[in-house]
Amino acid sequence: MNRIKIAVLVSGGGTNLQALIDAQKNGKLHSGELALIVSNKPDAYALERAKRAGLEALAISRADCGGQEGFETSLMEALDSRRIGLIVLAGFMSILSARFTKHYENRIINIHPSLIPSFCGKGFYGLRVHEAALAYGVKVTGATVHYVNEIPDGGKIILQKAVYVQPGDTPEILQRRVMEQAEWLILPEAAELVSAKLLNDKESKT
Ligand code: GRF
Repeated sequence: MNRIKIAVLVSGGGTNLQALIDAQKNGKLHSGELALIVSNKPDAYALERAKRAGLEALAISRADCGGQEGFETSLMEALDSRRIGLIVLAGFMSILSARFTKHYENRIINIHPSLIPSFCGKGFYGLRVHEAALAYGVKVTGATVHYVNEIPDGGKIILQKAVYVQPGDTPEILQRRVMEQAEWLILPEAAELVSAKLLNDKESKT
């Protein structure tokens, strides 16, 4: 069956990648197939998860490629040689240039651990997002999946899911709840939605 080939870019523990792997296994993700996992950190546990799931896993670091431009060129070669149709950023902690995002316009999605436009943009990533939400005193936070363009967290919103802040929450406790109750649900759902859209666009062109 003709499916969109998906690459997942990771940097850390890979719990969002695991949610995509599980969604593929239980049939929730079926218009796209996980085809390649790339980490910019060679020791990312996400690579272990990929190998355990029998997925091709690469580590491409900026240091090995002589800087940002070389890193992105190697990444683009790895993606284009495998005819990747959709790129999913899942805990990927690296900037991507306008050259890169334009090359894959409307084919890169990212999971951000807040309800954009709150607590997003430059410097808002990982635990820092939840520290800022707690410092502000919001009663509701959540996660957002959005298209990626050259503006950090600036692309069109695809899905969001709200999560209540509880009394006594620490950043770590809140992060875990946002992952469990929002990120791990809406990222696979968004990957399926966008894959189905890309597949439909492709078929309507043939
Ligand atoms: C999490 O804070 C998640 O919200 C953000 O990246 C961090 C690590 O995610 N997207 P993962 O466990 O590596 O998927």
